[in-house]
Amino acid sequence: MNSTIKKMTQHVSVRDFKDEPVTDEQKDALLTAAQSGSTSEFVQAFSIIEITDSKLREQLADITISSPHVKKADTFYIFVADLNRQASILKSHNQDLDGLKNMESLIVSIVDTTIAAQNVAVAAESMDLGICYIGSIRNNIQKVAELLNLPKLTIPLFGMAIGVPKTKNQHKPRLPRKNQVSTNTYNNENLSDLKDYDASVRKYYANRNSNASDTNWSEKNLAIFKEIRRPEVAQFLKQQGFTLK
Ligand SMILES: Cc1cc2nc3c(=O)[nH]c(=O)nc-3n(C[C@H](O)[C@H](O)[C@H](O)COP(=O)(O)O)c2cc1C
Repeated sequence: MNSTIKKMTQHVSVRDFKDEPVTDEQKDALLTAAQSGSTSEFVQAFSIIEITDSKLREQLADITISSPHVKKADTFYIFVADLNRQASILKSHNQDLDGLKNMESLIVSIVDTTIAAQNVAVAAESMDLGICYIGSIRNNIQKVAELLNLPKLTIPLFGMAIGVPKTKNQHKPRLPRKNQVSTNTYNNENLSDLKDYDASVRKYYANRNSNASDTNWSEKNLAIFKEIRRPEVAQFLKQQGFTLK
């Protein structure tokens, strides 16, 4: 295993940061990594907003509710799925925007943005920084869009808190390969037989240093998906100009 892959296998989300800066040089490297990823049809459909204003950071952290580490991390980026640049080009050529508004373009912008973010995550961890994605900004996606002055055809997908780790959680066991990877066809039997994995996740939760609990992966998923989460996101997407078709 080479050193890049070794670092990737050591990933844990970091929620406790030292009071130490991410240097300008490191930030420059992170943003270069973000801009170096693959991008569908070369559309580069994302923007990154660094939050340096402390009041704005507080407001965003309050929206996340459960993520106080947003306040403590040295660096906080918001990743925005962004087809606004394309909209400007199309408008200036009197072309209608239907090609930007459909589900396919929405997926393209979300995928591009996620690739950029994961490049930042890998780059940060390669420099021994810690990261935590912050999807809970979508607790109030409308308010986030207002705070950041986002135009139509943009979506604040998630944030990322970055800093020097103070403490780290234990590594969370991932699905066994047989439960996630198959050859030539979907293998319903192997991929959905989660008994062994549930046992190993229960052991992880029982023995971890902080927030130990008695649960497993299936039970977690039952709790997460027992209700329709953030139904207002679809309304927000429509308001931003997406047709969802
Ligand atoms: C898109 C995305 C959004 C996330 N949002 C949050 C969040 O709002 N707050 C948080 O503390 N962790 C968040 N996480 C971190 C996940 O909880 C974490 O990746 C998962 O539990 C696996 O743990 P690990 O990253 O330590 O391996 C998010 C992760 C992803 C990929």
